[in-house]
Amino acid sequence: MSKTSEILDKQKKYLWPNHLAYYGEPLPLDHGDGMYVWDVEGKKYLDFFGGILTTSVGHNHPEVTKAAQQQVEKIIHTSTLYPHENYVNLAEKIAEISPRELQVSYFTTSGTDAVETAVLLAKTHTGYQEVVALRHGYSGRSAMGMTLTGQAGWRIGSTHIIGIKHALNPYCYRCPLKLKYPECGVACAEDVADLIKTTTSGKIAAFLAEPIQGVGGFITPPPEYFEIVVEIVHRYGGLFISDEVQTGFGRTGEKWFGIEHWNVTPDIMTMAKGIANGFPLGNTITTTEIAESTLGAGLTISTFGGNPVSTAAGLATIEVMQKEANPEHVAEVGNLLRAGLDELFEKYLVIGDVRGKGLMQGIEMVVDRESKEPATKAITHLFEETRKLGMLIGKGGLYGNVVRISPPLISTKEDIENALEMFDVAFARVQEAI
Ligand SMILES: Cc1ncc(COP(=O)(O)O)c(C=O)c1O
Repeated sequence: MSKTSEILDKQKKYLWPNHLAYYGEPLPLDHGDGMYVWDVEGKKYLDFFGGILTTSVGHNHPEVTKAAQQQVEKIIHTSTLYPHENYVNLAEKIAEISPRELQVSYFTTSGTDAVETAVLLAKTHTGYQEVVALRHGYSGRSAMGMTLTGQAGWRIGSTHIIGIKHALNPYCYRCPLKLKYPECGVACAEDVADLIKTTTSGKIAAFLAEPIQGVGGFITPPPEYFEIVVEIVHRYGGLFISDEVQTGFGRTGEKWFGIEHWNVTPDIMTMAKGIANGFPLGNTITTTEIAESTLGAGLTISTFGGNPVSTAAGLATIEVMQKEANPEHVAEVGNLLRAGLDELFEKYLVIGDVRGKGLMQGIEMVVDRESKEPATKAITHLFEETRKLGMLIGKGGLYGNVVRISPPLISTKEDIENALEMFDVAFARVQEAI
């Protein structure tokens, strides 16, 4: 029996059947190094999904590994009851790279937890209860996370938190208002005022959105979108929470956080995934003034939040990014990737749209460009072809027809060229089979 079959058999027997996995036959991984991972049979893959946008500086970066190992030998766990130098130093470091107003952090262990913490803070600060989120957004797997999420497929059962409304999202390729940008005047953004006036009590605690939707399929808003919406949100008493779980830490190029592309300053930002190169860590950052409102509001604790090992890894990750993979580097290689994908768009009709920023680029696959019918079979085929060629990619979108390309930020020009060649071969095979 192969190692793969052994693992898959045990997975089937001992784990819940709803563990989502890619490929006809799921792919058990064994080890990783930089841009590459190896499966348990020894086959090597170029990782162009980056562990769901998480291995920011590549698998097992020696500096991150060393920082974590050294910390493991000193103390693994303290809990936030006992302040630790790693988490205060990481909070300081994150304050340095965040928009100037955002200075104070609350560490947790995941993106879901960071989002929960942000919404709780907004409710506590404003005294209001209702929250506006975006259709097609993804916010995590807790009851609150699933309710904030704007996709039926990611909600289990009938879990539902009251007081959450979903605004139209700025999905220009499939405009919810059937309009065309820029003649539309970004009507989807203006509609947020109507949504608040007609479906809430008239005052909201928060508007939560991703600067570029991740699981939604790297949906990228028009540049004016956030300026219009954030003004409306503040007018109706709410705080703006920018969910940076996917877009944070240089992923989108040029800037440290995705929202900085859109000319607005959030009141709160959530972060996780790329923060510690794969170690579990979440963070919610806000202004000193907003954070003050938590004082006396009730007790809260996170047993593993700010864990010394995860925060050691977080510190090392940011230091490595500053040296080897800063936002300027990401913009440079991201532009190269985008130019290559735009060329593939010219070649393959199965590609309906290419979008994103930096090293967060999406390809929406369609049966034909006229009907824009989601090409779900073709994307399944593309996954198998890229796997054969030795490259990992991600998937997203309400219809599961968007390829998510998000390699580690240390990607070089050669890595991008290598990936583009594999995409070219794989798309040719997929197009031919249609
Ligand atoms: C934007 C966004 N927010 C929150 C989450 C939840 O993060 P986690 O899976 O770490 O709980 C995710 C996960 O994909 C995400 O993409």
